Amino acid sequence: MATSPWKRKTTVPRRLTEPAFHLDRDSPRPLTVQLSDALRRAMSEGTLAPGERLPSSRAFATQLGVSRTVVTEAYQQLYAEGWLEGRHGSGTFVAEREAPPATGHTAPPPTRPPEARTSTPRPSRRRVRDQGMVDLRPGAPWVRDHDRAAWRRAWRHAAEHPPDDDPDPFGLPRLRELLAGHLRRTRGARIGPDNVMVTRGTGNGLDLVGAALLGAGTRAGVEEPGYQKARSILAARGARVVSCPVDQDGVLTERLPRGLSLVHTTPAHQYPLGGRLPIPRRERLLAWARENAAMVVEDDYDAEFRYDVSPLPALYGLDPERVILLGTLSKTLSPDVGIGWIVAEPALLERLADVRVDLSDRTSVPVQAATALLLERGDLDRHLRRMRLEYARRRRLLIELLHTRPTGDTAGLHVMLPLPEHAVAPVVAEASERGVLVDDTTRASHGAPSVHGLILGYGSAHPTDLRRACAVLNEAIARHA
Ligand SMILES: Cc1ncc(COP(=O)(O)O)c(C=O)c1O
Repeated sequence: MATSPWKRKTTVPRRLTEPAFHLDRDSPRPLTVQLSDALRRAMSEGTLAPGERLPSSRAFATQLGVSRTVVTEAYQQLYAEGWLEGRHGSGTFVAEREAPPATGHTAPPPTRPPEARTSTPRPSRRRVRDQGMVDLRPGAPWVRDHDRAAWRRAWRHAAEHPPDDDPDPFGLPRLRELLAGHLRRTRGARIGPDNVMVTRGTGNGLDLVGAALLGAGTRAGVEEPGYQKARSILAARGARVVSCPVDQDGVLTERLPRGLSLVHTTPAHQYPLGGRLPIPRRERLLAWARENAAMVVEDDYDAEFRYDVSPLPALYGLDPERVILLGTLSKTLSPDVGIGWIVAEPALLERLADVRVDLSDRTSVPVQAATALLLERGDLDRHLRRMRLEYARRRRLLIELLHTRPTGDTAGLHVMLPLPEHAVAPVVAEASERGVLVDDTTRASHGAPSVHGLILGYGSAHPTDLRRACAVLNEAIARHA
């Protein structure tokens, strides 16, 4: 019987010096990234088969003429993503799998603008869960405790909406009204239904803003480190994306460049470092926007969860002419629902609505109708109250159990765990080998990270899993830091 190429096993490493592994020293892309991309491509195309042994980092570094760190970091990244597996004392092997992973694991298509570089794809949350791993990568809420009766009621209500042939680009009037009320209560800004457009989430909202305000020759600012999807979305709308550095409190307003059409920022809980932009900086940010005729895009993705600190109202309320607020149910309910909002001045929303119609973009009306009922009957508020308590408990547990004090923990569903630079990749790799998946600041950085550490999301991890993960992380940190 012929052996499947996916099951081939070799114990002697090949020399991997063919053109596929040529590294370009003049490229702005770090050598480690070039190497991990080349290896990933070779594995996804089958040039490197599962079970195949890779050269030792020392030998590979010599073959390629690079420092050993370049190779160890590339290997660690691929370990963390599940492409490689280590057998103690016997080397590094291409991980066994039934078939090559789905598309998206190879280098981005050449037509993509260079600024639209996406971060390295990772195993899906479902796959990680199915493998019994603890997933502490940030971004996911707890979705297993929703009120089933309320959910069913909402969908029965949605089913009563007859299909329409003319979807309103602003969204269902009733939902806009309810969202305006919800935002007045939770985000302390004067918002009426005319200020609200219903979207499918923050990403959709940012894309529409980009489509309306950007284009070739424009420049858009994003935080660094920051939300890499914002970078890709704005670049895909033709802007040159400029990195705006942040510190532990948020975006550094004195370092905002001139000539930006807009800046994307996360003032309530900077992604990923977790800072909360202090009032004087908020004022400077708005003054900068006025002086530069720029818009501030306030990404309010997780502001509804706040711990031990008083609420800071949304930036939007301070200057509705200069701020566009983007919100989402992705954290409060689930990203699967696909509901978000843009809050802006009515004239700007009109422009966005025109763009939306031109792009044939819309939010599903049945989903809006179901969401409206969840808001109307107070189900969403009840869910939020319950989840605030649950997330506060998980956050406390994480802080108590970790031997290193996290930072950026006053809001949201993730924290930052500062580590010495040399320890980050080995800790991520060891944790992954031991069944705990975490992110680090490299993934949220466009250039070389200015801050080093882990980004730990605790929203979707059960307390039992959090305990297990903290034990693994403490040991890995003690070994490598
Ligand atoms: C900074 C930031 N913005 C927005 C989102 C949510 O985006 P969406 O509403 O498109 O799901 C996330 C999710 O992780 C995020 O981290």
